[in-house]
Amino acid sequence: MIHSARLKVKKIIKETDQAVSIELEIPKELQTEFQYVSGQYLTFIASIQNEELRRSYSLCSSPEESKWKVAVKEVEGGRFSNFACRKLNEGDELEVLPPNGKFCLPSKIEDTDQFLLIAAGSGITPVISMIKTILHSSNATVFLLYGNQNSDQIIFKDELLDLKNQFVDRLSLHFILSQEIVEEELFYGRIDVQKIRAFDKKLFDLNKIKEIFMCGPEAMILDLKNEFITKGLRDDQIHFELFGIAAVSKPKSAIVHKDGNCMVNLKLDGRTMNFNLEFNTNSILDAALKNKANLPYACKGGVCCTCKAKLLSGKVNMYVNYGLEPDEIANGYILTCQSYPESDEVSIDFDV
Ligand SMILES: Cc1cc2nc3c(=O)[nH]c(=O)nc-3n(C[C@H](O)[C@H](O)[C@H](O)COP(=O)(O)OP(=O)(O)OC[C@H]3O[C@@H](n4cnc5c(N)ncnc54)[C@H](O)[C@@H]3O)c2cc1C
Ligand code: FES
Repeated sequence: MIHSARLKVKKIIKETDQAVSIELEIPKELQTEFQYVSGQYLTFIASIQNEELRRSYSLCSSPEESKWKVAVKEVEGGRFSNFACRKLNEGDELEVLPPNGKFCLPSKIEDTDQFLLIAAGSGITPVISMIKTILHSSNATVFLLYGNQNSDQIIFKDELLDLKNQFVDRLSLHFILSQEIVEEELFYGRIDVQKIRAFDKKLFDLNKIKEIFMCGPEAMILDLKNEFITKGLRDDQIHFELFGIAAVSKPKSAIVHKDGNCMVNLKLDGRTMNFNLEFNTNSILDAALKNKANLPYACKGGVCCTCKAKLLSGKVNMYVNYGLEPDEIANGYILTCQSYPESDEVSIDFDV
């Protein structure tokens, strides 16, 4: 089971009007547990207006820098992001879960590899970490398409330009702005299928790209993924991270035509707990939390996989899954925040 740690905020930098970066101090004894690979995220647990919030933020530092830094962009009315951007101070402590996530570079990067990275807005955070790792640990080439409304909103603009100067032949850097007049029309607008068609063979050659990593709005990612598949890239070459998903309502197929309760047996930290869960009410995660189980979770949206567990017996309906791979599903893993019981009894193991 994953446990949280209280970590001190070492440094806060105002990166743009709407975004701050937050560097954390990791004591020596926690550095192994907090080791990460580029693309992973940390989850913060905070109590804001008497409500416990859990929010994930991708690491924008790279392991090669021996730093733990995230960046938070303020969203309108956003509870944690407003707190982080306006109220958090250097020296404060935050409760943090260790790094997690599968949006990661391949373990071996060849010098001849070419990577296409696409980010929009705060989606640059995991992407800049990947860029630093690729450039500093190999001779591979990176093409970055980074979309924003205007140049003032470009998070890490100076750091990206410095990297470009340092790795002039290996980093191909392109800012695309949707609400600011730019010299070349090609770089004006949103990153969409038309843009990718215009960029292919001009900025990069999709036939030569080894892997694609994207982080931004759901609609952009799903459209571009379709386009890349149409152009002949394989599913396993295309990776993406979603920071949130469009609100999903429970589909009719998720409704179990059954009254009564399911007996849920949970294994956690070597101990077993049981509780009754009425069909069609709560997800297994929510029901367990109500029963005071200290379970790991973050997004509650089927994205981050923090709530992953193994279904040992019984049947559940998992109605959203953006995170588990087909082989994990085949091996019985479920996202408990999205899983509703379908059988009279289910047994679930969080320790595997
Ligand atoms: C794996 C992962 C990694 C993430 N990495 C980052 C990161 O590096 N930097 C970063 O800034 N964020 C990141 N996020 C998003 C972050 O976790 C929060 O969802 C976001 O900061 C909003 O939280 P909040 O408490 O401020 O807003 P809430 O109080 O939860 O929401 C308030 C309102 O804002 C809307 N909203 C929520 N999220 C967004 C959003 N992202 N864009 C626009 N509107 C939104 C909600 O619909 C709601 O109306 C990541 C999310 C995930 C799942
Ligand atoms: S808590 Fe993020 S997928 Fe369940």
